[in-house]
Amino acid sequence: MKYNFTKENIIKLLEENDQNRVQQLYDDAFRTKIDNVGNKVYLRGLVEITNICRKNCLYCGIRRDNPSNDRYEIDIEDVIPAARFAYEQGYGSMVIQGGERHDKKFRDKITSILKEVRKISSESPLGITLSLGEQPFDVYQEWFEAGAHRYLLRIESSTQELFEKIHPVDESHSFQTRLTALEDLRRAGYQVGTGVMIGLPFQTLGHLADDLLFFKSFDIDMCGMGPYLEHSQTPLYQYKDLLIPKEERLELSLKMVAILRLMMPKINIAATTAMQSIDPAGREKAILAGANVIMPNLTLTEVRGDYSIYENKPGVGEDASITSSSLERMLQNAGIPIGYNEWGDSLHFKDRK
Ligand code: 5AD
Ligand code: SF4
Repeated sequence: MKYNFTKENIIKLLEENDQNRVQQLYDDAFRTKIDNVGNKVYLRGLVEITNICRKNCLYCGIRRDNPSNDRYEIDIEDVIPAARFAYEQGYGSMVIQGGERHDKKFRDKITSILKEVRKISSESPLGITLSLGEQPFDVYQEWFEAGAHRYLLRIESSTQELFEKIHPVDESHSFQTRLTALEDLRRAGYQVGTGVMIGLPFQTLGHLADDLLFFKSFDIDMCGMGPYLEHSQTPLYQYKDLLIPKEERLELSLKMVAILRLMMPKINIAATTAMQSIDPAGREKAILAGANVIMPNLTLTEVRGDYSIYENKPGVGEDASITSSSLERMLQNAGIPIGYNEWGDSLHFKDRK
């Protein structure tokens, strides 16, 4: 099918109810993926390094003001074995994700971890993605020089008005700062990934269409988006009655993935854990709708339950290797090859360079 991605047309695709047409959209996106970036799924072993966060996002379970959350920070001595595990499993890349922190000790720690990870994997280095929030430009630079080369920072919503409904309005939650941070990341040399939550209270299909158009105009390299999942210990929970059913949030997320693949054929798109939390096969469905990256969780079992940005997060209580093998089985069953020992960088980024 021919597509023309005006806001109006995107909205029509997002509201499509005819299951044959929705399937057609997924199939077109899957085909576009194979033609442009290939059939492989790339893995990034995910380490959730700390749930300490200076921010208070109204939707997030690890926000600063949620007292019912034991806070942790993983020691370097425990991050390195996880990196080695990722390396030995042939994951090719890892992601270090955590709450947003500005203390010097944390900044130095990340720098040391990056250097150590480089040492483990000197022959065929492990790719490293960071997801540690908004930071000053010199911090982005320092971490880039220490070995990170991709960074994920979701815009959460590209509509300032909606962004301000889901964040406190103060200096540490500024829409403008978020945009500047994304520009800084690009300037520092990273492959830049962003994304949004789907199915937020007050969010319309028009907002989601604008999000896709924002990704295109910002010329992003990577995208991670997924359904919003309400968390009872957060302020946004009060609007739970405004939400569409979870299955619809998942379907909307899959449509977003498919449309984005058609709009930006060469970027990397993640099949996210939040999709899996609605449907055990959610990530597989996203892969079949155009996503090409999965981030298996490698966080230590003892602390994994504490990184609950939303409730009933899958994989909690499971061991890293079990998570990865059930994932492998799922992909094998769908006939999807895994890009073992490959970085699986964004081809879009390479083309721009
Ligand atoms: N539901 C879904 N995703 C969430 N995130 C935070 N809280 C939630 C939630 N309740 C996502 C945000 C953030 C990422 C790390 O997790 O998009 O950028
Ligand atoms: Fe912190 Fe990120 Fe959660 Fe916001 S979404 S409270 S920045 S961990």
